[in-house]
Amino acid sequence: TTTRFYDFKIQTTRVNKLCNSNEIVTVNNMFPGPVVYAQEGDRLIIKVTNLSPYNATIHWHGVRQILSCWFDGPSYITQCPITPGQSFTYEFTMVKQRGTFFWHAHVSWLRATVYGALIVYPKAGVPYPFPFPYEEHIIILGEYWSQDIVQLERQVIASGGVPPPANAYTINGHPGPNYNCSTNADVYKIDLVPGKTYLLRLINAGLNTENFFAIANHKLTIVEADAEYTKPFTTDRVMLGPGQTLNVLVKADQPIARYSMAIGPYISARNAQFQNITSVAYFQYSGAVPSSLSLPARLPNINDNLAVKTVMDGLKGLNTKDDVPKEIDATLFLTIGLNVNKCRSPTPQQNCQASMNNISFIKPTVSVLESYYKGFEDYFTPDFPAAPLRFYDFVNGAPNSAPNDTNAMNGTRTKVIEYGTRVQIILQDTGTVTTENHPIHLHGYSFYVVGYGSGNYNPQTANLNLVDPPYMNTIGVPVGGWAAIRFKADNPGVWFIHCHFDLHQSWGLATALIVKNGVGHLETLPHPPADLPRC
Ligand code: C2O
Repeated sequence: TTTRFYDFKIQTTRVNKLCNSNEIVTVNNMFPGPVVYAQEGDRLIIKVTNLSPYNATIHWHGVRQILSCWFDGPSYITQCPITPGQSFTYEFTMVKQRGTFFWHAHVSWLRATVYGALIVYPKAGVPYPFPFPYEEHIIILGEYWSQDIVQLERQVIASGGVPPPANAYTINGHPGPNYNCSTNADVYKIDLVPGKTYLLRLINAGLNTENFFAIANHKLTIVEADAEYTKPFTTDRVMLGPGQTLNVLVKADQPIARYSMAIGPYISARNAQFQNITSVAYFQYSGAVPSSLSLPARLPNINDNLAVKTVMDGLKGLNTKDDVPKEIDATLFLTIGLNVNKCRSPTPQQNCQASMNNISFIKPTVSVLESYYKGFEDYFTPDFPAAPLRFYDFVNGAPNSAPNDTNAMNGTRTKVIEYGTRVQIILQDTGTVTTENHPIHLHGYSFYVVGYGSGNYNPQTANLNLVDPPYMNTIGVPVGGWAAIRFKADNPGVWFIHCHFDLHQSWGLATALIVKNGVGHLETLPHPPADLPRC
């Protein structure tokens, strides 16, 4: 095992963007932050020092953290925040994982600017299951606000309203030429050699917006989704929700010219606030006249659900057959959605505008993992229901009509799962306020996406794929529809499951799964690290 060391300094950095000079929080004064490189099987040791004025944590999105739950990063779930002036060292091993990951802050909305790629190569001598690309490029999609994001979050949550749309969408931090005041220097470019094949590692680090991505006149061949290989699938455009990554191969097979790579919003919810503008980077052949206009990329309409479904239908796992749980021991049925009337009890007027099974998750004041480990359960309850509570049952009203009672309950209610359980989770979008495609992310595991569809889940008619489902960590549940995911609960710890729209996460669209220890020491969570931040 090779051990790789990184030093992260979370700090305030002055940047010039969109005609403004303002301060954002970064890692090592870089935006996006530094790329962490590793190889499958490597150990990563990353010392994070918080020099910013805000609480911070870092989450390693997609890393399964086998027996290393303490280093997963979500605030108040597996650790207390690193307070200003303090540091915490994350240590974990890339067990049987390789591909495109990313890291991001996991406290307040700090991840709007605190994010970067985590690239893990296969073991030495192990090739990719596709032709070796000429070059690889990281493409991180983001949203940029010209105001202090932590303060914006506080205002939004206190007011009970929704945030203004981002000031810009960005590609590797650059807003691109479609925004007033963007200079040429603020455009990301890839220079191409004709005839070569490029691997693009796409990451959606956006806060609250799902995005389409396309390159003018070029096809994209998906070969990996959420850091797991897929069967090759060729398409004109892809969609990534926040938290999703896709590797695509692109052949530079077009005449010498400049082409645009563009991102633009996919908005499945009615009445959502968003920036209706595309953000552009250049995909240009050497020899192209730099001053020439680029050929525009064609993106789907903002509400093109069919385009999203087409890409989803094309995602098939590579060699996943033997590992898909064919039998299941437990099913969890989770409604996901927004609430009109916030919280009914026990404390009304908390900020519970979204829920799972009509329970808005309230983050505790001590991490769930720490309190679970120490055996004091005053900070959470183990009574998250396996299905929507009867009285609050949204399912009969879904997807497009609201139930009579649109209140939520609140609580730090968790679901306890025995080690080794083969779990199926049905995620059902509900329509109390609006139906919407929610990117639901599970920590600590990848899961097989064995089914999805529109309308309400019906076990009689659901057609499940147990042969070649993709193995993912974030699933865009179809708007007004459902998705079924399966995994074996063989990694003990406390694992957050939540909507990767930060707005919805703050509103309570989350819960935590507690996977208990198995019997042997290889099935048991280790002790907490000595420098674990205290609350
Ligand atoms: Cu990418 Cu819980 O997060």
